Parts: sequence; structure tokens; C-alpha cells
Amino acid sequence: MAKNFYITTPIYYPSGKPHMGHAYSSIVADIFARFKRLEGFNVLFLTGTDEHGQKIQKEAKKNNKDPKIFCDEISQTFRSLTRTLNLSNDDFIRTTEQRHYKSVIEIWNKLVSSGDIYLDKYSGWYSVSDEAFYDDDEIEDKNGKKISKSSGSLVEWVEEESYFFKLSAWSNKLLEFYKKNPNFILPESRKNEVVRFVEKGLKDLSISRTSFTWGIPVPKNEKHVIYVWLDALTNYISALNFPNTEDKKYKDFWPADVHIIGKDILRFHAVFWPAFLLAAKLPVPKKVFGHGWILSDDKKMSKSLGNILDPLEIIDKYGIDQLRYYLVKEVSLGNDGSISLENLKNCINNDLANNYGNLCQRVFSFVKKNCDNKIPISSKLNNSDKKLLDNLKNSLPKLISLMNNQELNEYIKKVVGFSFDANKYFNDSEPWAVKKKDPERMNAILFTIVEQIKNISILLNPIIPNATNKVLNMINIPVENIRIDKIKDENILNNKKELGNLEILFNKIEDDN
Ligand code: MSP
Repeated sequence: MAKNFYITTPIYYPSGKPHMGHAYSSIVADIFARFKRLEGFNVLFLTGTDEHGQKIQKEAKKNNKDPKIFCDEISQTFRSLTRTLNLSNDDFIRTTEQRHYKSVIEIWNKLVSSGDIYLDKYSGWYSVSDEAFYDDDEIEDKNGKKISKSSGSLVEWVEEESYFFKLSAWSNKLLEFYKKNPNFILPESRKNEVVRFVEKGLKDLSISRTSFTWGIPVPKNEKHVIYVWLDALTNYISALNFPNTEDKKYKDFWPADVHIIGKDILRFHAVFWPAFLLAAKLPVPKKVFGHGWILSDDKKMSKSLGNILDPLEIIDKYGIDQLRYYLVKEVSLGNDGSISLENLKNCINNDLANNYGNLCQRVFSFVKKNCDNKIPISSKLNNSDKKLLDNLKNSLPKLISLMNNQELNEYIKKVVGFSFDANKYFNDSEPWAVKKKDPERMNAILFTIVEQIKNISILLNPIIPNATNKVLNMINIPVENIRIDKIKDENILNNKKELGNLEILFNKIEDDN
């Protein structure tokens, strides 16, 4: 029976054009989703848009549009981004959908019946841009304006009637939960931040607003709309047909295996979300992974600095596999990382064009020229052939564990290392030199190297699906059913069918490009 695996991205605010941060969260989640499928899991991968709240209402007004019409348009650009990024998501949820309304109302009602909600008055700081409440010690003055210390965004003083969630009552239970589930928050450094925050003691959380209308109305008191984060977080179960907890989707996939998010929204996912779920007596997700921030030339990307790298422009110019590979190779997943066009070009040339791409090109043109375009199958492997193949095969348990612990950079480093070794092996073994005097030896070399290209392509498939699918297709391996276990299998190369045509996988980028 297939094991189930549920992975999610944050749902994005459709308030403007998708940017590199959005692309990054989604690509990272997609890589893990694809890897779990390769491991044989039945995967559900969810992404979508977070459409309510004051920020979106304001943005719609600025554009002279009704909020729903505004969201319909921009949500569509996020939906089409899933295709541009080559995401393998199984669902795309919008918080303006009926299925989501039902689920949010049910959560609200559960919190009311458990006695975790009361009506009072909120007075304090609010950032519309973060859709977050801040305490006095979390804000500072900048040029006469009040801003949040953590995000730098403007805050405003808010006083209004509000429903509260008794978050203060959950501090100890959360701390116990973190202790019992040491992998709930990763990476470790982020977990420490969250634990310290909860240890200070939590204040009750305002969970409704009355000063605008764009949201899900509070049942039985419709002048309030539900706080956008309580609304948004619930998307993860709305997509599983909650409140129908007998539904197969919900039963198969809840609790989620991992929520992939950026570090800026960790508090919402690692404090508020588990507290809501515990209070509603629902299971809590297994893991929340907070990735770092993408910087451009070491600085936060901003219009005023003119250092914004637009994912769509980059994909258009250099290709999607290239961007996917570069982002996850260059930025160490848990930390902030700087990207630049210069480094992107070097990475494409060194790792993709000169290494993996060139290896495939050289080997397949040699097979085409010298072996009637069919892979020679050989069982006469010598020690150096076996060593090359065994090295990779023996690393499989380690590679699988790296991916399951979200150590993506280590994983890539290892796989790229195999590709370097394979190039060196091909050079050193000189099949061209033995072609005439020892064709059997030439066959063994070619069999070994094609086998290794197959293995490397399977391992790289979650990261660069387009290029690796082309390679697997050309060696007649059906990509729909490739699995990690196939790496152990030397019998799947086919010596009867001719190799397909291989286009250039990665063009080298010249200096002026
Ligand atoms: N709508 C909320 C999430 C709700 S999830 C229930 C939200 N949306 S967002 O559109 O502002 O951001 C979505 C994701 O993009 C976050 O994970 C955030 O960390 C990520 N990024 C935005 N800018 C980023 C970078 N410059 N670098 C990396 N990721 C960053 O928050």
C-alpha cells in the first residue's frame, strides 16, 4: 500500500506580481514533493492564494476594483506561475472558495464551543502589510514613523471591538508539544527562537476585525470578519474537505507531513496554528520548515534599491530548470542567501552546461556514432566500473535521509559530485582508445556510463525535471514510473531500441548575456 505524504507551500497574497521569494518557497516544496513521489509515496502537494484581509482590500481599492474581481485576476497569475515554475501541485486553493468558507466557519465554531474565544476590545499596533499585531517592545521609531522591528513594515494604532483567542492558556501545552515533537520546527535555530518566544508567555490573540469587511464574517456577529491568519492557516485542511473528517482525503493526508514556509511567517505556523488545532481538538502537523530569506547582492530586494530579480524574466531568458537548480544550490535552505545574475550564469555554465549537460552530450553522441545508436549492455564490468556505480548506490540511504531532513544543499552537492566523477571516469577510461582492439571493453565502459547517467538523472529529477526527463526519455525509460529503487536496477536499460534525439540540455551563457 502506498504511503501518503502531504506537503504545502504558504498561500500567497495576491497583492502584486509574484516575486523571487514566492518562487523560492514553491520550488523548494515542489522538489520535496517530487522526491517523495520518487520514493513511492502517494503525495498531495498543495499551494494557493490567501485572498482576504485589509491588505488585499486596500490594494483592490487602490486599483479601483472590487476585491473579488481583483483577487480573481491576480490569483490567476499565481496559478499560471505554478506552470511556469513547473510545479507538480495536485491542488490550488483560494481562500475565497466555498470549500474554504465551510472549513473556517467550522474551526471558528469549534473554538467557540471549546471556550477558547471571548469578545473584548483590542487596542494596540497593527501592520497591514504583515497582517500582524505587535507589542510595544516589537516596534521602533524610524524617521518619525512607527515600524515593526522584525519586518520593518509600517504599523498603525488600532482600537476596536474584537474577538480574542485564549492563546495565553496554551503556552505550556505548546512547550510540552515542542518537547515531545523535537522535529516539529526546523531548522533547529528557528525552533529556539519560537521556544524562547513562547517561554516568555503568550498573550491572547485578537482574531476578528471590524474596521473593514473583506473577509469571512464571524458566525452570529457579522460586523466582524475573521482575522486573516486564522482564515488563511485553515486552508491546509480545507483542501482535504474538512469539516468532513471521515473524508478519504482528510483521513489519508491529515496531519500534514510538512508545511514549507519562509522564516517571517514562522510564528503563525509554529505557535498560532498548533494552538488553534489543539484547542479545536484536531491533530497538529508533523513539521514546519522555515526557510531563509533570498537577498539580492546581499541586500533585501526592493524597488528603491533597484536590485529586484524577477523570476519570470529570468525564466524567460535562462530557463526554468536553470533557475530551480541555481536557487536551491546557491542558498542554504535554512539560512538567508544572496543571489546574483553573475552567479546564476556561472552556476549554469559550470554545473549544468559543462558538467551534467556535457556528460550526456558526449556519451550519447559517442554511442550514436559507434554503437548504432543503441546502448551496449555488458556484464563484464571491471573494478573501476563497479566502483563508480557502487559509490552512488551505496550513498542512496544517505541521500534519502538528507532529503527527508530537508538538507537539500548537501544532497545536491553529493549528486553533482557523482556527475563530476562520471565525467572524469569517461575521460580516464577512454572508450575511443579501445574501440578497435577491445570492443567488449568499450561496451562495458559505455554501459557503465549510461547506467550512471540514468542514476544521476533520477536523482536530479526533482530539481531539474525538464532536462532529466529529456535524458530519461531518450534512453527509453518511461518517466511516469521512475523510482529511486530503479537506481539499483541494472536491467532497465534497453539495448534493442535506438536512442531518441537529444537536444542541447543547457546552453552555455556567454559574457554579454
Ligand atoms: N499569505 C501569507 C502566508 C499564509 S500561509 C497560511 C504570506 N504571503 S506572502 O505572499 O507574503 O509570502 C509568501 C511566502 O513568500 C512566505 O513564505 C515568505 O517567506 C516568502 N518570501 C517573500 N519574500 C521572500 C524573500 N525575499 N525570500 C524568501 N522568501 C520570502 O506571507
